[in-house]
Amino acid sequence: MSENLRSENDLSKMRIAGRLAAEVLEMIEEHVVPGVSTAQLDRLCHEHIVDVQQAIPACLGYRGFPNSVCTSINQVICHGIPSPAKILKSGDIINIDVTVIKDGWHGDTSRMFLVGKVSNHAKRLVAVSQECLYLSIDRVKPGVRLGDLGHHIQAHAEANHYSVVREYCGHGIGRDFHEEPQVLHYGKLNSGIELVKGMTFTIEPMLNAGRAATKLKRDGWTVETSDGRLSSQWEHTIAVTAAGCEVLTARADERF
Ligand code: MF3
Ligand code: CO
Ligand code: CO
Repeated sequence: MSENLRSENDLSKMRIAGRLAAEVLEMIEEHVVPGVSTAQLDRLCHEHIVDVQQAIPACLGYRGFPNSVCTSINQVICHGIPSPAKILKSGDIINIDVTVIKDGWHGDTSRMFLVGKVSNHAKRLVAVSQECLYLSIDRVKPGVRLGDLGHHIQAHAEANHYSVVREYCGHGIGRDFHEEPQVLHYGKLNSGIELVKGMTFTIEPMLNAGRAATKLKRDGWTVETSDGRLSSQWEHTIAVTAAGCEVLTARADERF
């Protein structure tokens, strides 16, 4: 990991990439309404990243991914492919996952949106998964171990009778999209590597209303719950600082 510690100069560039990724989610919010297709949302994000931000959508072409953002509706856990045939309807929950590259550095963030009138049980899953992200961010500081973060995410999810997805995790991020370390969203206290000032990684817990098991669709990307029940995910890119951490992808509506 030591080769992946960010200097102040690196961090100033990651701050810019992070802010741009956050701004895409701020921009798209008013468009996430019943009747819009996920292809339209993808296109709006793509044009904002390329034309307004003069940045690069990291997902487009990444290992062959066909679009600029991931759009994951209801039982889709992650990596949903935008499509003109996927039209949002009232009651849906959707994650939009945005990664931008600016000046060679990555910023990666996702959030859930409630479409129209959403059931209370879906709202609760969305809220608890956001709490899992926030409570783990609150614990980040030098000397804390990575397994502690996973442990507290898992504990909060399971206390609420939800399960944590195992097969997909957070990741180091910087000049590369996905770097060491893997950031698991479950685990044991006092396990894993110690956090050090200058590390940059994502935390992106995926919580399922039912069982944790996943299945990959035949498109090779879309990951769904195997029991067909709802899933919810929130993601931030963070940097470990001397005192705690800095959330590089914080939105205006968030206070850290
Ligand atoms: N943004 C996702 C993550 O949080 C990765 C998406 S990869 C893609 O790591 F190819 F599906 F876009
Ligand atoms: Co992401
Ligand atoms: Co990520």
